[in-house]
Amino acid sequence: MIRIAILASGSGSNAENIVNYFKGNDAVAIPLIISNKKDAYVHERAKKLNIESVTFSKNDFETTSLVLDRMKENDIDFIVLAGFLLKVPENILRAYPDKIINIHPALLPKHGGKGMYGDNVHKAVVEAGDKESGITIHYVNENYDEGAIVFQAKCPVDKDDTYEDVAKKVHALEYTHFPIVIDKILFNK
Ligand code: GRF
Repeated sequence: MIRIAILASGSGSNAENIVNYFKGNDAVAIPLIISNKKDAYVHERAKKLNIESVTFSKNDFETTSLVLDRMKENDIDFIVLAGFLLKVPENILRAYPDKIINIHPALLPKHGGKGMYGDNVHKAVVEAGDKESGITIHYVNENYDEGAIVFQAKCPVDKDDTYEDVAKKVHALEYTHFPIVIDKILFNK
């Protein structure tokens, strides 16, 4: 059984989608959702899904071993970042080599890096006049959005699209592909 922790800072719609995808799969458990925001909506979703969710401060992440300790206590094997906005600290990266993945709501290496998250990304895509956007699922290393890319999927950006339109298309791609890609990574499919 592979045990996954999901890290999320915001709404958690991807977290919920991933949990639902693996429901009933005896080879995968998602016992823990970790956030750095105590009022993030992901906690409501976790409650509804009957999954423990905990909050650690930026300081806890950056200067203590509390988060890693909690992962170890929960026998976590694999970590999924789904809208998680802090950098993953060195101690966790070292403890989980090639076991941490992230989803970025654009086609990396375009529109990545510090500050490029959520709507900022979709606004940048529209402002750049890009003809397409999409999702990038990649391994996490010490730099934002620079780990090895596992998967990308594209959607068209039409001339009149607002950033909200782009966000909608990108979210749809996330919901379709992210759980399947996780499944493939976990089981070398
Ligand atoms: C998603 O677009 C994800 O790609 C990005 O942050 C957003 C999180 O949305 N990194 P949600 O919290 O899963 O609803």
